Amino acid sequence: MSLESLRVLGEQFDQDKLSITEPADLEEVRIRYLSRKSGRLTQALQALTRLPKEDRREFGRLGNILKQRMESELAELEASLGSVAQARRLEAEALDVTLPGFRTSLGHRHPLTLVREDMERIFIAMGYSVEDGPEVETPYYNFEALNIPEGHPARNASDTFYIGGELLLRTHTSPVQVRTMERQSPPVRIVCPGRVFRRDDLDATHSPMFHQFEGLVVDEGVTFGDLKGTLELFHREFFGEGTRTRFRPSYFPFTEPSAEVDISCIFCHQKGCRVCKQTGWIELGGSGMVNPALYGFVGYDPERYSGFAFGGGIDRYAMVKYQINDIPMLFQNDFRFLEQF
Ligand code: FA5
Repeated sequence: MSLESLRVLGEQFDQDKLSITEPADLEEVRIRYLSRKSGRLTQALQALTRLPKEDRREFGRLGNILKQRMESELAELEASLGSVAQARRLEAEALDVTLPGFRTSLGHRHPLTLVREDMERIFIAMGYSVEDGPEVETPYYNFEALNIPEGHPARNASDTFYIGGELLLRTHTSPVQVRTMERQSPPVRIVCPGRVFRRDDLDATHSPMFHQFEGLVVDEGVTFGDLKGTLELFHREFFGEGTRTRFRPSYFPFTEPSAEVDISCIFCHQKGCRVCKQTGWIELGGSGMVNPALYGFVGYDPERYSGFAFGGGIDRYAMVKYQINDIPMLFQNDFRFLEQF
């Protein structure tokens, strides 16, 4: 061992240092020169005792300088390798914030909800309030107080779902008329959307559970003209400006006179098509002047007050508005259908 061998060791170290490109290489070089047992410099320094006395001091001094140089140069390299590794990681993990994100699919309002909300919006703007009523009713509210006495065909068990002997599922929203008039004195101006039930077979335009939209106005001096004007305005607002409304004489026990309400076919503009069955008109509901017989049930003075009422199928309005030709689609919850709204 000589001073010359220390110089050679230093040169070899400088040479080996050049090949360090990553932390593993650096560790290898550190072990090669500085490991406590087998490091080449460590062993050289341990050999110090075998040197002639006069050389030991200088050899120790230069050996230590070399050791410090190796240590500090390796530490420096380690730090710069760390920042290279970090830069590489940052590059690999870089996010392109300009890339479009993944769209989370939002829910949709059901077409029946859209129609109901639109109907409510139009009537609220005309000064109506929205009322609610029970779906499980008594025969009194569903029939009797609406001037449908016992024995009337509409009370037939083949049309109505009875629950035990005392209760039934309401067959229309008209019971809400009675409940509202019982609760409040005129002027009355309400609409009531809700679910109704009938023992009807399911087909393209009928469902055993469907939705109606009831309206009731009672005040002094209310006329059939008010009814016509109201529904005409409603239909123009709901279906579009050119929509015409037609009233056809009809019969309901709770209105007198009564009328079926049709709108001009918005599909063919009254030229005749499959939807309107070539008639140019589509039937949506019933209406009429409140039968004064009802006022007896709720304590209104029939000499002083008059009123009109109407009730349409929300499902039918939705079918016409969104060109849905099969009512079951509204209840099957098929996403492919619902996503279109
Ligand atoms: C009535 O239910 C009356 N209560 C409406 C009324 C209210 C008249 C106020 C006068 C004053 P009708 O049975 O015709 O009337 O039903 C009204 C509407 O409900 C129908 O025009 C139709 O649009 C809808 N409808 C009736 N049965 C079904 C069914 N099974 N499935 C889907 N819609 C139906």
